[in-house]
Amino acid sequence: MKITVAKFMLSAPNLKGCPAASNTAEFAFIGRSNVGKSSLINMLCNHKDLAKISSKPGKTRMINFFLINNAWHLVDLPGYGYAKIAKTQREKWEIETRNYLLRRENLLHIFLLIDSRIPPQVIDIEFMEWLSKNQRPFSILFTKCDKLSSNKVHATIQAYQAELSKRWTELPLALLTSAETKRGKEEILQIVEEIVSLHFREAGNFNN
Ligand code: GTP
Ligand code: MG
Repeated sequence: MKITVAKFMLSAPNLKGCPAASNTAEFAFIGRSNVGKSSLINMLCNHKDLAKISSKPGKTRMINFFLINNAWHLVDLPGYGYAKIAKTQREKWEIETRNYLLRRENLLHIFLLIDSRIPPQVIDIEFMEWLSKNQRPFSILFTKCDKLSSNKVHATIQAYQAELSKRWTELPLALLTSAETKRGKEEILQIVEEIVSLHFREAGNFNN
C-alpha cells in the first residue's frame, strides 16, 4: 500500500459531527497526549503538517478526519491522560473519543500508541483492557524509537509483554515506529492494506 494523496476532511467534536461514511474503511490513532499520534499520521502520509503537532501535550482536541487515496480514512484523536487541561474539558474529550471508538461503524482498526521510552503505565494498560472488553480490534505502535537504543526499546516491549501476559494469552500485534526515521511505515501500511482488502472482499466491493 502506498499513500499517494492525503487530504484533511474535517474536525468533529463528537460522533454526531463525524462525516457520513457508509462503508468507508477507517483507522484511528489513539494514545496518551504527546505520544506522537499526529506525527505518525504525517509520516505515513509523507506530509509535514497535515495533522497539527506540538511539543506541548494536548494539541489535538477534535476527531480529525483525513481522506487517503480518495478511498479510506485515517483519524487523529485527542490524547488521553494530560493532567494540565481542565478536568471537565478532559472528561468531555474522553467521553467523545470513547463514544467514537465504540460506535463508529466503519472503524475497522485502532492503532494504540505507546511511548517506547516509558515503562508500562496503568493508564495505557487500562485503555487496552477497555478496548479488549469492548471487542475493538487494535495493534500497539511503540513510538519515538529513534530516541533510545534498541536494547532499551526491547526492554520496554518485554516489560509490556510481561504485563499483558498476566491478562491475555494472545497478545496484540506490536510494531516499533519512529516519525523521525520512518521506521514502521511499511508494516503499518501493510496492516492497513490487509484490513482494507478484507473489508472490500467481505462487502463484495472490489473497487478499492
Ligand atoms: P496530542 O495531540 O497532544 O495528544 O499529541 P500527539 O500524540 O499527537 O503528539 P505529536 O504528534 O503532536 O508529537 C508530540 C511531540 O513529540 C512533538 O514535539 C513531536 O515532534 C515529537 N515526536 C513525535 N513523534 C516522534 C518521533 O517518532 N521521534 C521523535 N524524536 N519525536 C517525535
Ligand atoms: Mg495530536
